[in-house]
Amino acid sequence: GAAVEVDISAIKPGEKITVEWRGKPVWIVRRTPEQVANLPKNDPLLADPKSERKPSELTPEYARNEGRSIKPEIFVAVGICPHLGCSPSDRFQTGAQPSLPDSWEGGFLCPCHGSTFDMAGRVFKNKPAPDNLEVPPHMYMSDSRLLIG
Ligand code: FES
Repeated sequence: GAAVEVDISAIKPGEKITVEWRGKPVWIVRRTPEQVANLPKNDPLLADPKSERKPSELTPEYARNEGRSIKPEIFVAVGICPHLGCSPSDRFQTGAQPSLPDSWEGGFLCPCHGSTFDMAGRVFKNKPAPDNLEVPPHMYMSDSRLLIG
């Protein structure tokens, strides 16, 4: 399928944009330094913290790191829940929130059956979603131009 080139320069820290690639929604999130720093705190609570499951399908080699990303601050993922395909919503605020653990460090919540994902799209344990969100193939053409696909 055709690759999609995206100008990411206008995405502010803590913001997400969605683009379409191969008919799928692809999220591009600019994480704040705090969101990046909080990622390791989630590891004990996650089903697959190192993204070792289905690596060729879900996590390209250059994204097999704590942030599942090339640049620590930019997270790119397919915005489709690996359970039954609903679209998770943003829950970027930290702290106590209804239906989220007390220690919530920000991420995504699937409205259909309650799967939760951290700011690197890693699924929490004991949730219906079997896997982390898919990181699509991507690369940087320059600091501000991202190529997806
Ligand atoms: Fe997301 Fe079921 S479709 S939890």
